[in-house]
Amino acid sequence: MGQPTHAPKGHDWWRSAVIYQVYVRSFADGDGDGTGDLAGVRARLPYLAELGVDALWFSPWYLSPMKDGGYDVADYRAIDPAFGTLAEAEKLIAEARELGIRTVVDIVPNHVSDQHPWFQAALAAGPGSPERELFHFRPGRGPGGELPPNDWPSQFAGSTEPVWTRLPDGDWYLHLFTPEQPDLNWAHPAVRQEHEDILRFWFERGVAGVRIDSAALLAKDPDLPDFVEGRDPNPFVDRDELHDIYRSWRAVADDHDGVFVGEVWLPDAERFARYLRPDELHTAFNFSFLSCPWDAGRLRTSIDTTLAEHAPVGAPATWVLCNHDVTRTVTRYGRTDTGFDFAIKAFGTPTDLALGTRRARAAALLSLALPGAVYVYQGEELGLPEADIPRDRIEDPMYLRSGGTDPGRDGCRVPLPWVADAPYAGFGSREEPWLPQPVDWTSYAVDRQSADAGSMLALYRAAVRLRPVFGEGPLMWLPAPEGVLAFARAHGVMCLVNLVDRPADLPSGTQLLLASGPLDAEGRLPKDTAVWLRA
Ligand code: GLC
Repeated sequence: MGQPTHAPKGHDWWRSAVIYQVYVRSFADGDGDGTGDLAGVRARLPYLAELGVDALWFSPWYLSPMKDGGYDVADYRAIDPAFGTLAEAEKLIAEARELGIRTVVDIVPNHVSDQHPWFQAALAAGPGSPERELFHFRPGRGPGGELPPNDWPSQFAGSTEPVWTRLPDGDWYLHLFTPEQPDLNWAHPAVRQEHEDILRFWFERGVAGVRIDSAALLAKDPDLPDFVEGRDPNPFVDRDELHDIYRSWRAVADDHDGVFVGEVWLPDAERFARYLRPDELHTAFNFSFLSCPWDAGRLRTSIDTTLAEHAPVGAPATWVLCNHDVTRTVTRYGRTDTGFDFAIKAFGTPTDLALGTRRARAAALLSLALPGAVYVYQGEELGLPEADIPRDRIEDPMYLRSGGTDPGRDGCRVPLPWVADAPYAGFGSREEPWLPQPVDWTSYAVDRQSADAGSMLALYRAAVRLRPVFGEGPLMWLPAPEGVLAFARAHGVMCLVNLVDRPADLPSGTQLLLASGPLDAEGRLPKDTAVWLRA
């Protein structure tokens, strides 16, 4: 991608931050009603401070009917009563900041809840009304208009359900996700105006950053033509109009010293990097790293591609192993196919959790050693596996809309275990939490892991604390045997990861700073193990 055209900017916090994702519903239950809430998060802030994270990204905490876990927002300026109040959110933001932890909120611009006042007004106003222009309402095709206006595929993997729903008055409306999430019309100035106001609203409440949900989907071809595989431009993904939207968002952020992280799933590295130009988004999630199998060659290519695609635009990379949408890391790495792909998720996939955990420990040291920002999803630091949720308890629309074939995402959203010997593993509920916890959940509890120097939590705490030794400089690959990743950063600090059976010698004259597992009797690095060393 050529030479860097922008000199690296000053070292802003977000360029090397460790950012912890809080899925409020499942983090900690402060009022005992079975659902996590802001009171639960406030009570656990010392835990997050001890973990050493720089920022918290909160999955949507706004008023929502929860048809898609809060990604169906009815009011972007109100906290859902199940989670608390706006005043509590303000307190939480301030208390976290006192502990040196910044807050990132999650804005969902592609769609709103069908309960949002705009959509309710559009329903009431009827076909042809200005209220409907804020969304994508169209007459159907076919003689009686009984066919959907186009053939776009659902954005929920595994779903064969249409992305259009017909109303009794004959109009159809577009929803790339569920019918309860109507897509906004981003060609309408009121939609842009409203979202810039929402950004200001949260920046004025002290948030330091905004995660942008489904960031590459907002703009649509105004003609809404049928989807033709491979036709450029795509009618609803990665359209050029998006860049103008994000340039004006950037101006709002710059007024408040705020930063963005975009949820941009795009296979094309060059197209992806366009979102990270200096006057657009500061960062975007690295889904190619998240999807990468546990294979030295593939990981090295993923790291190199990531660094090469970010360099020309001067944006820092991000390193992500999991989030609330994907299979938990220890489970994914314990399977035959260690990559992530929405299309291959299935019930009953055989999993070796001991193997997956060993690899996840090594992957934690790998990602925390790379240049850029690192995301940690709640429970990742506890090594939680993907849980099997009884089918009658699954709430995720990805399962419900797949006709019961896709397990959905609830398996990575199970309420956290805090105290082994407390009801519901100390999640805080008086009755069973909104999703059931597996029977062995207590073995992952924070109190148990805090008392165990060999636990995943102990490893994360040590690694996050030590991470600044890598400095801010670039990564330099070191010569290493096949199947071993070895690189140095500033001050002679190195990371080695062995992904193959043959034990690897550590470079001579190095001091061991941290290891993801024991070395062998000869002091060599065994398979699926990582170390941090200092020359
Ligand atoms: C994003 C969210 C996901 C949600 C979808 C629709 O991909 O991460 O959880 O279902 O957008 O808002």
